Amino acid sequence: MAALQDQDALYLYPTALITCLLLTVVLILDRSCRRRNHLRLPPGPKQVPLLGNVHQLPSTYQHHVFAEWGKQFGDLVYARFFSTPVLVLNRLHTARALLEKRGAKYSSRPSFIYQKDIVQFDHLILMSYTDRWKRHRRWFQNALLARNTLNTYEPMRRNEVQTMLRDILREPGEALGHIRRYTAAVMLGVGYGYSPSSLDDEYIRMTEEAIELSLGGTGPSSGLVDFFPALQYVPAWMPGMEFKRRGLRARKMVQEVNRIPLERVKRELMAGSARPCVTTALLEEAMGEGALGEAEEREIAGALGVLYIAGTDTTAATLIAFVLLMVLHPDIQQKVQAELDNVIGDARLPVSSDQPSLSYFEAVMKEVYRWICPAPLGVPHQLAERDEYDGFDMPEGSLVVTNVWAMSRDEEQFPGPERFDPERFVDTTAEGAEARDPRKFVFGFGRRVCPGRVIADSSVFLAAANLVAAFDIRPAKGFDAQQVVSELAFTSGIVRHPKPFPCSFEPRSAAKANLVLGAAEVTDGM
Ligand code: HEM
Repeated sequence: MAALQDQDALYLYPTALITCLLLTVVLILDRSCRRRNHLRLPPGPKQVPLLGNVHQLPSTYQHHVFAEWGKQFGDLVYARFFSTPVLVLNRLHTARALLEKRGAKYSSRPSFIYQKDIVQFDHLILMSYTDRWKRHRRWFQNALLARNTLNTYEPMRRNEVQTMLRDILREPGEALGHIRRYTAAVMLGVGYGYSPSSLDDEYIRMTEEAIELSLGGTGPSSGLVDFFPALQYVPAWMPGMEFKRRGLRARKMVQEVNRIPLERVKRELMAGSARPCVTTALLEEAMGEGALGEAEEREIAGALGVLYIAGTDTTAATLIAFVLLMVLHPDIQQKVQAELDNVIGDARLPVSSDQPSLSYFEAVMKEVYRWICPAPLGVPHQLAERDEYDGFDMPEGSLVVTNVWAMSRDEEQFPGPERFDPERFVDTTAEGAEARDPRKFVFGFGRRVCPGRVIADSSVFLAAANLVAAFDIRPAKGFDAQQVVSELAFTSGIVRHPKPFPCSFEPRSAAKANLVLGAAEVTDGM
């Protein structure tokens, strides 16, 4: 009997808790709706009680729906996801007017409770606009934007490109994998002075699994907790709380992924064999200030985790899109190769300092960024305090969605936007080229603009230029030009990249193959 009563209590407790949660939600929604009725909100799609517009949002390729709202309601769209007000920005000039000109108000982030509080993967991208964010931001600005620090990564990056070319020469069928290894190696080199020999590297596998658990693969409930924060306090063992059980598993993995490379660099520093990287810079700075205790070490380890997650997939997406576009447009590939041959000659492969001399290649890269748009919705910002723009009121706490994909498809700026056409960036004035450069929006806006944009761009340039200098890239058996450009052929999610497609890499000549092998031999001997 006592056991039966215990069992009853077991079921009553969750039911009562869920009822209380729902009542609280209804009360909060009711109150916030009444308050908002007095505001002059921007136009937007019709809302239904409780849900607002969340039911109109598909789980994939959301940038299309946001762009459609833009066409119907104008530059500034107002929506509501449960009780959270949402501002959707589809036009570049609105994003600049708000996120750049009013940076103090528009630089925070929404709460990201699943990642920050449950998984405890609390890094720069997700941080609110606080002093802690400012400190981490300074760390990464110094490490990723200062010219003298950037130069220290150059030999590492050249080695990784040479390894990539040699691996593709040996295993052309695995070329896309070797490109991904290159992007991972650059991030691990910058972060920890570490070079993985393949994508099977144990640290890469652990990191990918931790990222998958922390970001995706957790179902819609991990996102629901941001709108119903009380859900985070429901015990993990209760029915429907699978997302919390996964989150707690992810927490352990993230701790390991953060700890392992930091320990390695500490050992290397003691042995005097550490390579210059962000970890050595931060550890040495903390030691210099006499601040390197356990807490500071944990803070540094957690901060560094951002590099792999922010830099690997985004850079790989851009490079793999470049390969796809070269396959689809052999005439453009030939023009790029002719420019490379003309400027660089036959005796060597491209290096970073060649970038300013390759004007057609520059136009091609701009068009690649625009066409692929690697982070179609950027990362949402949050409005810290109530604001007014263009006669409209914007409520405090609004989630600000930057639809970068819609900006890249702006018919006025880029006529025929689905067409891949580097000519749109050729022969413009220097000012015009600067103003329309897609790198001015694909890396985000204002105070939160991507601090990795310079290193990303130079890593993409170096790899892309070497790939077409050394190889002819062509379609392989089974390649279907129509299929590879349909929207379903691109991943949906934070990063948009082409799904794998059949392509072939053939050395352009025996001399180029020898250049690749010779350069890789030097790298292996280092
Ligand atoms: C093509 C490659 C890349 C693209 C398209 C890209 C894009 C972005 C975007 C859209 C944001 C959000 C900006 C905003 O909130 O307005 C961002 C933030 C960030 N990116 Fe990148 N990124 C790339 C590569 C990299 C690389 C290589 C690194 C590191 C070396 C990096 C590190 C970061 C960090 C740390 C943030 C967070 C900044 C903050 O919240 O203050 N990214 N990136």
